[in-house]
Amino acid sequence: MTTNPPTTFATIETARLRLELAAPEHAQALAAFMRANDAHFARWDPPRPAGFHTAEYWHTQGERSIAEYRAGSAARLVMSSRYDGALVGRINLTQIFRGPFQSCALGYQIDEAHQGRGLMTEGLKAAITFAFAKLKLHRLQAAYITTNERSARLLERLGFTKLGISDDYLFIDGAWRDHVITALINKDFDEAWLQHP
Ligand SMILES: CC(C)(COP(=O)(O)OP(=O)(O)OC[C@H]1O[C@@H](n2cnc3c(N)ncnc32)[C@H](O)[C@@H]1OP(=O)(O)O)[C@@H](O)C(=O)NCCC(=O)NCCS
Repeated sequence: MTTNPPTTFATIETARLRLELAAPEHAQALAAFMRANDAHFARWDPPRPAGFHTAEYWHTQGERSIAEYRAGSAARLVMSSRYDGALVGRINLTQIFRGPFQSCALGYQIDEAHQGRGLMTEGLKAAITFAFAKLKLHRLQAAYITTNERSARLLERLGFTKLGISDDYLFIDGAWRDHVITALINKDFDEAWLQHP
């Protein structure tokens, strides 16, 4: 069973942000974003593949992002400032499962210079609305390393429920790390959405 997710992505605008599907045209900006935030993200990132800081790598990832979105398996979004167009963050809705689960994994990161301004809260509110109303998902799951206090505050602010701690959950920054698993349920999920072919 699937729920007929949209195959084209309409840009989402919030008060300060523009959310678009990651695409090859974002390659230069994404490579620059990763280079600028190398140390900022290192503590929370899985091992970086070869070429991770190059535009070529992000061009390929942009192609993958579009293919995955069309296939209904992921929505990888880039977040830009409506003020000056600068790419300030990423929000990834991945591992989209349908059937009786209707769930996906949520990941996010913001440019260090834009931290602490409520921008990720603003972007995630829009992404959650999109995931629930347009992708018609029932559940979002997010996991953070037990010491990631900013991520913990962010998810709490957005209403995610803590489900527990999963030991050695992900290989991050050179070791298997314990993670807090959280989830947010779509209270407006319509069971008729389960009936689409
Ligand atoms: C996790 C992460 C996205 C959180 O970013 P953030 O900037 O703290 O989150 P927000 O954009 O929602 O900002 C919230 C902060 O802005 C403040 N703020 C300022 N203006 C605000 C506004 N207009 N609205 C809401 N909050 C505002 C809040 O008080 C809050 O500050 P506090 O955390 O000191 O209480 C960021 O730290 C990050 O990218 N870290 C590295 C990657 C990472 O850890 N990813 C997640 C892995 S699980």
